[in-house]
Amino acid sequence: MSKTPKPRNAFYAQSGGVTAVINASAAGVIDAARRHRKYIGRLYAGRHGIIGGLTEDLIDVGAETPATIRGLRHTPAGAFGSARFKLKGLGQNRAEYERLIEVFRAHDIGYFFYNGGNDSMDTALKVSQIGAQLGYPVTCVGVPKTVDNDLPLTDCCPGFGSVAKYIAVSTREAALDVASMARTSTKVFVLEVMGRHAGWIAAAGGLAGNGPDDPPQVILFPEVAFDESAFLARVKGSVGKNGYCVIVVSEGVKNADGKFLAEAGTRDAFGHAQLGGVGPVIAQLVKERLGYKYHWAVADYLQRAARHIASKTDVDQAYAVGKAAVEYAVRGMNGVMPAIIRKSGKPYRWKIEPVPLAAVANVEKKVPRDYITEDGFGITAACRRYLQPLIAGEAWPPYRDGLPAYVRIKGKAVKRRLAGDYRI
Ligand code: F6P
Repeated sequence: MSKTPKPRNAFYAQSGGVTAVINASAAGVIDAARRHRKYIGRLYAGRHGIIGGLTEDLIDVGAETPATIRGLRHTPAGAFGSARFKLKGLGQNRAEYERLIEVFRAHDIGYFFYNGGNDSMDTALKVSQIGAQLGYPVTCVGVPKTVDNDLPLTDCCPGFGSVAKYIAVSTREAALDVASMARTSTKVFVLEVMGRHAGWIAAAGGLAGNGPDDPPQVILFPEVAFDESAFLARVKGSVGKNGYCVIVVSEGVKNADGKFLAEAGTRDAFGHAQLGGVGPVIAQLVKERLGYKYHWAVADYLQRAARHIASKTDVDQAYAVGKAAVEYAVRGMNGVMPAIIRKSGKPYRWKIEPVPLAAVANVEKKVPRDYITEDGFGITAACRRYLQPLIAGEAWPPYRDGLPAYVRIKGKAVKRRLAGDYRI
């Protein structure tokens, strides 16, 4: 008869830019950890992610009520606090890793679930390696998350489907507005979306229309060097033909020299030296060169916090990867990440499978060229087929007094066991 292992505690941390569904992944981790008490004793979360781990600022997840845990599934942003904090390479800052292991050791933490993007997968991998080197093995499993949708080996990244839906819906709605006013007022509407290096979110704007003249008539991708004259001709053509033009622009658009447009010495609509925000730059260019009245909007945090309009597919996948991460860990799988595998496109069917963190860490998946039309301004049928199922289904949060009823954690601190403060 095999001996029952002694339960070890677990540490969960949210990392990087948050999403509308990262808390659904947290709920998946928490629910699964509760079902595996034979292996997992207490579950702690880092307050502000890995910073909580380094500074021994741990949240006792067990002190949260079942209603709060259920509510995480429909609450956007990082309920436990996230951090943009990259642990450096082992060679450059081994002390940080050693400190994390020291905290883990002090709290008998044997499992580490790191919910983040490319950088976080790299950190999880390094923690699994150094734990073993220091004689304190930790089972590390990554939980994928990023609105940028740029992790490899997974069909998509939890967080992306909901942003994609928000952008597709907003583009469709704003386009109706512009079309109704175009004869006497605004002719060009520009929507700036996130995705610094990969144009997945911009591509999702393309779902707003179906036909060749449907809005958005122009999408600007980071994957395609900005060609000013081709762009202006396209805008002019659309205004001539349709009476208006809707443009979705990725924040990461670059010129032919590889410089971000927003950093190319251009000025925004206010005449200020550009400090970021390519939307106003594009709008101003249209005004100066073509003379059209415009409006622009920067979707910014609205897009990644928009839980009220989340994709059900995305919510379900976010929960599933959290749950799978725990199941892999208790089976002794170390240094892996649950990936979403597309089994079929129509109907969309998917499953979760482990992939090695080493193959995911620091690799960026960009929009392939055959997902972008030849002229560089739109999405192809293949791209539409890929994107469409990811925004499917509604998962509305409950509403109270006309507003979504989101939850907040109590955030009870775990008693510290180490002396002295750790400065990050
Ligand atoms: O996490 C990815 C992302 O949402 C990018 O698309 C965006 O450029 C960035 O985060 C914004 O980060 P921050 O909120 O730290 O400024």
